[in-house]
Amino acid sequence: MQQTFLVFSERNIDSIIMPRSPLEGTTKATKLLLVLLCWTVLCSAMPDPNYREHLIKMEQSQQTGGRVLLSKAEQQLGVLLHKLKQQEMESSEFPPAMHFFKAKPLIRNSTLFSLLQKMPKGGALHVHDFALVDVDWLVKNVTYRQHCYVCFTDDQSVRFIFASCQPKPVPHCSEWMLLETMRAKIDNCTDLDNSFIRNLTLYTDNPEAAYPNQDVVWKRFEETFLAAWGLVTYAPVFKDYFFEGLKQFNADNVMYLELRALLPQTYELDGTLNDRVWTLKTYQEVVKQFVAEHPDFFGARVIFTAHRGLNASELKEVIKEAVQLQREFPEIMAGFDLVGREDTGRPLWYYREALSLPAELGVSMPYFFHAGETDVQGTDVDQNMLDALLLNTSRIGHGFALVHHPTTKALSRKMGVAVEVCPISNQVLKLVTDMRNHPAAVLMSEGHPIVISSDDPALFGASGLSYDFYEAFVGIAGLKSDTGTLKELAVNSIRYSSLSPKLKEEALVKWQKKWDKFVVENLP
Ligand SMILES: *[C@@H]1O[C@H](CO)[C@@H](O)[C@H](O)[C@H]1NC(C)=O
Ligand SMILES: *[C@@H]1O[C@H](CO)[C@@H](O)[C@H](O)[C@H]1NC(C)=O
Ligand SMILES: *[C@@H]1O[C@H](CO)[C@@H](O)[C@H](O)[C@H]1NC(C)=O
Ligand SMILES: *[C@@H]1O[C@H](CO)[C@@H](O)[C@H](O)[C@H]1NC(C)=O
Ligand SMILES: *[C@@H]1O[C@H](CO)[C@@H](O)[C@H](O)[C@H]1NC(C)=O
Ligand SMILES: *[C@@H]1O[C@H](CO)[C@@H](O)[C@H](O)[C@H]1NC(C)=O
Ligand SMILES: [Zn+2]
Repeated sequence: MQQTFLVFSERNIDSIIMPRSPLEGTTKATKLLLVLLCWTVLCSAMPDPNYREHLIKMEQSQQTGGRVLLSKAEQQLGVLLHKLKQQEMESSEFPPAMHFFKAKPLIRNSTLFSLLQKMPKGGALHVHDFALVDVDWLVKNVTYRQHCYVCFTDDQSVRFIFASCQPKPVPHCSEWMLLETMRAKIDNCTDLDNSFIRNLTLYTDNPEAAYPNQDVVWKRFEETFLAAWGLVTYAPVFKDYFFEGLKQFNADNVMYLELRALLPQTYELDGTLNDRVWTLKTYQEVVKQFVAEHPDFFGARVIFTAHRGLNASELKEVIKEAVQLQREFPEIMAGFDLVGREDTGRPLWYYREALSLPAELGVSMPYFFHAGETDVQGTDVDQNMLDALLLNTSRIGHGFALVHHPTTKALSRKMGVAVEVCPISNQVLKLVTDMRNHPAAVLMSEGHPIVISSDDPALFGASGLSYDFYEAFVGIAGLKSDTGTLKELAVNSIRYSSLSPKLKEEALVKWQKKWDKFVVENLP
């Protein structure tokens, strides 16, 4: 079987992952022959254990990581991983079966999780600009800076703004109050700060009651972005926020980031606005500075995102701007995507004209479409994954509904288009309850190209990638997934990144060094 990967030199990858076993394509005739052989040899009605063993091996080799060549040490680590995973599964409270908000303290306490935190995970390819950094930092650091005003909305949310003098009021919000003055009047600010934290995340003690359906949770989800908006888009904070985000991912042993970014206008204290070019340049500078201070970190790139609420002519203008930015900032800019809730937004096919513009102009505009983040089957939105592929997407964000579409799934595999699986996001936004039932279990069992990512870790109370790796490894991938699974997932995050072939090679070498060290240091 011919495999087509949109990949740099496959040589390096081949030294890590074996090419597909010829047995995988076993034809009906060979299978029949095998069965007949077993029959005649054993002369028994009992299934042949050797044949059974052979089939089990074959199936196992198909899973994510099933063809990874493992060193002695990696195999030894596998024994430990297996033992630790078994411990998790035997526990009366199996974290992947629970809502993440309840599972988090249990996960954080587990030995397997500590191991996954230490593991070099490669890149995080699906994370959003406003949900990178622990909200504690936003409240404890950012809202305590000078000139920070707050107002309280009619529907009990909050908005923030930095200004040198009393800002003009905004609709449906109280008068702006200077936080410094307000805090000075209260002896204990813990309750106020905690209420800000609650406004900036989806975290709650009883998620089932607070979020009875997708409409409710998405509404709150969008509210959290609005609450964070005025804090993050303040130019000095914007830089610090991104820097802090890189710090947190780096601390979680993630070496590379692809950021879905709205590239909003940012503002200065006197109200001056900075444009998109400023924002993109700032990302570029911050990455440069961060890498200079953390030479182990590989870098970050930006996927410019627009909202699926735009109409066709509005999107056309945005695409033209994206083409321009891609031309001016090829180093930092990776491509383009559409964001917002798919079920209520416009389907990709509606935008086909605007999205075909770059190809018509003969310019390159890589796409990284969110597609299939839905559980409604058969709608126009459900067609987004196919349309994304027809529009030459480089990856599929979520692809939660992909297993409903065999032709689309086969096409994604043939084109080497990886699916970005974000387990915790899918659970919090109510597509799946028990991770064991996550459709990525099917993708993983057949070795479909996937990467694991965290989408909006700050909103879910997660950080970096480790929690999502835990859910994927323990909940989705089952007991037989092993060191090879983790290794392939990490390698995939480089292989399916937007980096040039040359940079992929460099990143892979850097990752491999960290990986080998990790394996040796964590042998049982
Ligand atoms: C975490 O582990 C400690 C020590 O084993 C235990 O006392 C504590 O109850 C655990 N916490 C949770 C949330 O399971
Ligand atoms: C402030 O209040 C919180 C609970 O609301 C309490 O836990 C904390 O100890 C208080 N801090 C001080 C300094 O009194
Ligand atoms: C948001 O903050 C306001 C003001 O402190 C508070 O009244 C409200 O309960 C908070 N919202 C949530 C969801 O906690
Ligand atoms: C807030 O964060 C900035 C850097 O992002 C740091 O320089 C500053 O010391 C922090 N301030 C506080 C009060 O933590
Ligand atoms: C798209 O939106 C713009 C402004 O938001 C409006 O002027 C224009 O008429 C809309 N176009 C279509 C085709 O609806
Ligand atoms: C997608 O790629 C094909 C083949 O390279 C090309 O013919 C087509 O124009 C591209 N379409 C878009 C929308 O980029
Ligand atoms: Zn997303």
